[in-house]
Amino acid sequence: MTQITIALTKGRILKETLPLLKQIGLEPLDDVFTSRKLLFPTTKDNIRLLILRGSDVPTYVQFGKADIGIAGKDGLLEHQGDGYYEPVDLGIAKCRLMTAAPVGYQRDVGRLRVATKYTKVAREYYAQQGRQIDLIKLYGAMELAPVMDLADEIVDIVDTGNTLKANGLEAREMIANISSRVIVNKAAMKTKFPVIKQILTALEEAVSAK
Ligand code: PRP
Repeated sequence: MTQITIALTKGRILKETLPLLKQIGLEPLDDVFTSRKLLFPTTKDNIRLLILRGSDVPTYVQFGKADIGIAGKDGLLEHQGDGYYEPVDLGIAKCRLMTAAPVGYQRDVGRLRVATKYTKVAREYYAQQGRQIDLIKLYGAMELAPVMDLADEIVDIVDTGNTLKANGLEAREMIANISSRVIVNKAAMKTKFPVIKQILTALEEAVSAK
């Protein structure tokens, strides 16, 4: 039987992914939320799951160590890798990738200090806008950077907007609509086509049934 490895993104995406997988008859044999394991056998003998950080999912799929991945579009935009296709939009974990700044903050004409974990996306976005920026790489709690005067603006995910509001910030410009996507290793798409096609079709059906 063709062996398939699926890389999942832990956190909020995982919570929304598992019900979809269950709908297509795929369930991990252990509790992924309490187990310290990172690799899980499933109810289908030939399919196993990896639970990874979102930014590592495209890496595993790109190098063919996972055949299929489920990851946020934000991480995929930032990864900028090739070696995989992005055939299905799961429409889960929806949010927006935006710039944000302190409420009422007026941009000076000079260089802007931008804090973000999305450094590639931010560099491209501000270049398109013709804005000179100094990028400050952070790994989390981006909303704190303007409050502490580490940066003038941030680039981050906005869902309800509560985190921005709680820190005196407001969303400014929209960079991209985000949702979780299915990615597939290009070589695996050829060599394991029948099985992968079956999984993709089942996922598409599960998504449209929602
Ligand atoms: C994300 C993001 C914001 C927050 C936005 O963080 O970085 O901080 O959610 O959501 P809201 O608009 O509904 O307040 P998350 O909690 O996912 O953790 P992360 O920093 O690890 O991405």
